[in-house]
Amino acid sequence: MGVINHLMGFPRLYAFVQNSIARSLHHQVKSSLCRDLPDKTGVDILDIGCGIGDYSVLFKQATYTGLDKDECYIHSATSKYGRPGVTFIAGDATKLSFSSGHFSYCFSVGLYHHLPDDAVVASLQEALRVAGPGRVIVMDAIFPPRGNFPGYLLRRLDRGKFVRTFTAYEQLLRNHFNVQEITAKRGGLLDYIYYRL
Ligand SMILES: C[S@@+](CC[C@H](N)C(=O)[O-])C[C@H]1O[C@@H](n2cnc3c(N)ncnc32)[C@H](O)[C@@H]1O
Repeated sequence: MGVINHLMGFPRLYAFVQNSIARSLHHQVKSSLCRDLPDKTGVDILDIGCGIGDYSVLFKQATYTGLDKDECYIHSATSKYGRPGVTFIAGDATKLSFSSGHFSYCFSVGLYHHLPDDAVVASLQEALRVAGPGRVIVMDAIFPPRGNFPGYLLRRLDRGKFVRTFTAYEQLLRNHFNVQEITAKRGGLLDYIYYRL
């Protein structure tokens, strides 16, 4: 696992893996983001755990900010996608440095299976603070239900140490938040949870 972690620290290798194993998943994620987030002037969007910034290309009119703790990814995202209206900053998802209500929407893809429960709750509280109820949209890795062994194996090999079942994830959310929408989906072999707070 240490080797995988190390290799995924290289933005180009990370992009290759994402575009091969997770191609179908990413296609679905992009469709959801296009459906849920209005790309209009005056809309401010925060992408928490933005990685190498690939979702920034979805926003042509809205202002997009990508935040990630990995400075190497932020550097790569800035060189590749940075322009007026699209910015990337290094920061911690559990302590956002923005004022309350600063953003119109927050979204996060594939972040929370890297974080323990208390950090997930802290980060979602921060997302709600900076965007507001109904404006936080998350898609995240989960273990598949029985019968999808390749998908299970891929999730076991994931760098995220906190992959949850749908049931455990839903329980965690319902213990702390007013969940507006929640569902399990599958992209290719990979299962994921979609929710809106
Ligand atoms: C699986 S990647 C997902 C990247 C991107 N959202 C995507 O879907 O392609 C998870 C990202 O979360 C970032 N991350 C992990 N813990 C974080 C934290 N506490 N604060 C901010 N980013 C974090 C990692 O650096 C990594 O870029």
